[in-house]
Parts: sequence; structure tokens; C-alpha cells
Amino acid sequence: MAKIDMAKFAKFCKDNGFIFQSSEIYGGINGFWDYGPLGVELKKNIKDAWWTDMVRNPPPGPDGQEIRMVGLDCSIIMNPKVWVASGHVGSFADPLVDCKTTEKKYRSDQLNVCFVADESAPPSLYCAYLSADEESKANAVKKLAKLLKLKSPMVGLDTKPFEGVAKAGLLAFVVAPDVDQPGTLSEPRAFNLMFESNAGAVKSDENKVYLRPETAQGIFANFKNVMDSTRLKLPFGIGQIGKAFRNEVNPRNYTFRSREFEQMEIEFFCKPDESMKWYQYWRDLRKRWYSTLGIQSANLIPREQGQEELAFYSIGTTDIEYMFPFSDEPQELEGVAHRGSYDLTQHAKHSGLGDKLSYFDQDAWMADAGKRNTNSFETWVKTGATADEIAKYKFIPHVIEPSAGADRFTLAVLCEAFTEDSVPDANGKLETRTLMKFHPRLAPIKAAIFPLVNKEGMPEKALELYRSLKPFYNVFYDAGGAVGRRYRRQDEVGTPYCIVIDGETMKDGTVTIRDRDTTLQRRVPMTQVKAEIDTAMTPGC
Ligand code: GAP
Repeated sequence: MAKIDMAKFAKFCKDNGFIFQSSEIYGGINGFWDYGPLGVELKKNIKDAWWTDMVRNPPPGPDGQEIRMVGLDCSIIMNPKVWVASGHVGSFADPLVDCKTTEKKYRSDQLNVCFVADESAPPSLYCAYLSADEESKANAVKKLAKLLKLKSPMVGLDTKPFEGVAKAGLLAFVVAPDVDQPGTLSEPRAFNLMFESNAGAVKSDENKVYLRPETAQGIFANFKNVMDSTRLKLPFGIGQIGKAFRNEVNPRNYTFRSREFEQMEIEFFCKPDESMKWYQYWRDLRKRWYSTLGIQSANLIPREQGQEELAFYSIGTTDIEYMFPFSDEPQELEGVAHRGSYDLTQHAKHSGLGDKLSYFDQDAWMADAGKRNTNSFETWVKTGATADEIAKYKFIPHVIEPSAGADRFTLAVLCEAFTEDSVPDANGKLETRTLMKFHPRLAPIKAAIFPLVNKEGMPEKALELYRSLKPFYNVFYDAGGAVGRRYRRQDEVGTPYCIVIDGETMKDGTVTIRDRDTTLQRRVPMTQVKAEIDTAMTPGC
């Protein structure tokens, strides 16, 4: 993907009402963002598309069967025991290093160092920089050249992860990203990312609570409630969209790594011996979903995590990565994880519910009815059934978890849509235009309706069309200025269709529909306009 100047891009997003810095009038707050009038529509369309395509209308499963999915909306603050059971209290931590001079904090696993490699002696200096940040790297290389009094290009210039240098006890030779002298970085230490608060009037350890760092645990904690209230049978999935909070050490790359963000998560529960086919199903479907919403396949890179990266309980995880224009390497958009039975096992243990979080496979039990003397599972268990025999009927389901970030995908959609091309102006002269090539389902405004001129009944006719579409779609009425300028304004905010009411409309009831990307216009009956938009908005993946 072509590089975008991110500062220029952030200004564009601000100027057009997509994304604002949170509390900007007070100087902002690092890692928090607001969505403006167009941004909120874009993000809502993304969440709605996910809910429609994954929860309400998922495509058939691997064997062509219908998939059963339901939704949840859990509280952000939960009983803190949830986070002990899930492992977040014990180990949801990033390795942190502090700079003694600037008091800045860095994630040690997100630092690289540059140095001059020389076979005859170990490097005398390492300059640290933020990995996946080209500007930070360029500054570190410049600093290294200056401190070593070397001319660029430097012979033997090399880079490696900071953590190896720290482990080798060489911190005294490392220059932190924001200083010019070595030896200011501390040893890495674990820093828990959960935001803490207190529930109730007294601030004490007894009523300490956490803002959830993921929506997933609310789903696991409600597994029994959903089973009991819906009588769902395996396999089935539970989806949830909601806020999550992480006290990220280095929020960066615009909204990519924020401290408050929204997740769109599915926990898909299935029989252990069918879990691999469901893992593949979700991995393929989730990648395809991004493509159907306009992300070019070339910019989407699924990456199977290596054994050394996997969580100890995970049987496999694929990160669906996107080639964000601020980085040379693809970055995670979503993780699709095979979590085995880890989470439900943990909650069964910590909640004391024991085998009440297990699933009893009534169909399998009844299918084997002729092979036993009793139809009572409890009585049969007492007849000396082995653990393997019992597990055929009663087991903790395995879980496939496609976990996506609504804000990360919003950022990817904005980056992907941002386009500059040239089109002829009113006099046929080529001019540069900026346009946002949003997929119609995601576009904040679906259609703009213009009267060609503000007379001869055209405004009234245009308002009639606008009012007929408004209950269904976010549409925009614009009667101001030359029509070419009105087109440009809509191109810039990604409106796929501009509809003009002109002299012909007043005679035969037809209007022009202009396509944003090709700029081509077609005439259609005004009564057909909604059907045209409906077609473009049809879900499918
Ligand atoms: N339940 C699994 C889970 O939370 P994760 O990989 O930590 O997995 C899932 O997060 C997704 O949430 C990521 O792929 C990303 O899209 C989004 N996400 C995670 N941390 C984020 C952050 N600090 N800012 C924005 N999005 C984030």
C-alpha cells in the first residue's frame, strides 16, 4: 500500500469530521479519540455490518449447515473474580522500561536498536527507536551517526530487538529514543494494563474493580445463562460489540493503539473433535468479510502465529493483518484464536460451578440409547463409565474466537478509501480531487440530492426525494453553489451517489445518478432511486 503522510491524513480526518483528538480544547489526552459527525456514521456502519453479517446472517457452515448465533451486551465493570479466572489480574502485562531522564515509558518489546556491526568488536552504542515507526527509526539512525561521528550512509548499520540487548546486560550502552546520552533506560518490568477503579463510596482494596480489557470474558461468564435461556445446541456462537480499555504504555499510530477502543468479538462454542474445521471456517470467513467491504486482498495478510507466540492454551491463532500506510510491516486487525476449553474451564473452577459449565450432548446420548440399560446419565456414570466414555456425552466445549477491533477497522477503512485522482472540471480541464472510496455499506452518507438550480420547482422535487429516502438511509440535501463543487464536496467525504434533479426531471420524472468513483452519470426514474441504493447496500460475504 502506498505510504500516506499520517499527519496530513489526521488533519484531513479532522477537517472532514471523521476523527477528533479527545478533549482537544484542553490539549488532548494521549490514547483517547472522538468520532465526529461523519466518523460516528462510518464506525456505526462498520459495527452494523459486522452484527448483520456475523450475528444475524452468518453464511452457512463448513458442511453447508445453518449457523446459530446470538448476541450479548455485558457490563463493562464485572466482578473482579472474572479477571482473576481469565488470567488478566495475574498476567495481562506489558514489559515496560522507563527513561530516567525524560520519565517516559516504553514497551520493551516494541523497541528496536540500531547499531554499527563490526566483526572485530561488539558495538559501543545502540540507539533505541519505536519499531514500526519510520520517523523514530530515522531519528535513531541520525543520532547514532552523530554520536559516533560517522558519515551517512554508515557502513555496517544494523538493527535488532531491544530486549536481546537488555538481556545481555548492555543497558549502559543504549541511548533511549528521546535523549542523547546512553544509560538512562531501566530494566524491563511487568506493567498490568487494566484500568482500576472502585465500586462504591469507599476506596479500598475490597471494592477494587477493573474496566474490562476485552469483551470476551462477559461472554464466557454468561455461557450458562445463554444456554439456559435459549436451549441452543452446539455448535453456536455468541457475539458482542463493546468498549474495552487498556492502559497501553505507548498509544500510537493515530487510533491504531488506543487506551479506549471498541471490540467486535465472537466466542464460537463447538465439540472438541470438530474444532479444527470451525477454526478454518472462521479464519477464512473473517478475511473474506474485510474484502467484501472494500479492503483489497493484497493489503490483507493472514499470519498464522508461530508456536513461540501462542498463548499456552491456544491450539492455533491466525492474525489477520493489514498493511497500514504508517508501517513497513502488516499490523494486526483481528485475531482468530482456537482457545480450546481454557476459558470455560477456568470459570468453572473459579466460580465453583464445576461441571455446570459443561455441555451435555443430548443427541449423542440418545443416539446410543440402545447400548445401555438406563437412560439416566447420572445412573450410567455410576456404573463405572471411564472418563473417555463420559467425555463423549459431557464435556467443556472448545472455543474459536474471532476478535476484531472496530476502531482498527475504521482506521483501515479510512486509509484504504483515501484516494487522489484527476478528473475533468466543468471546462474539461483535469484537476486533482481527493475522494474517499468507501464501500456503499460503510459510507457515512449514502446519497446526496441536489436541485440543479434553485428555481422551476427543482428544490421542491429534490426535497421530496430527500424526504422519501431519509427514513431509510443517511442522505444529504445540498442546494448551495455550482453543481461541480457540490460533487467534489461529496467525493471528499465518500458519498457513493449524487442525484441531481434537473429540467428533464420536471418533464419526465427521471434524475441523474452520478457514481463517485467513475464520475459517470446515468438517468433513472426518480421512483427507482431507492431500489438502486438498496442494491448497493445488499450484505453478502
Ligand atoms: N479476546 C481476545 C483479545 O482481546 P486482542 O488481540 O488483545 O485479543 C483483539 O484484541 C483486537 O482488539 C485486536 O486485533 C485489535 O483489533 C483490537 N485492539 C486490541 N488492543 C487495541 C488497542 N489498544 N487499540 C485499538 N484496538 C485494539
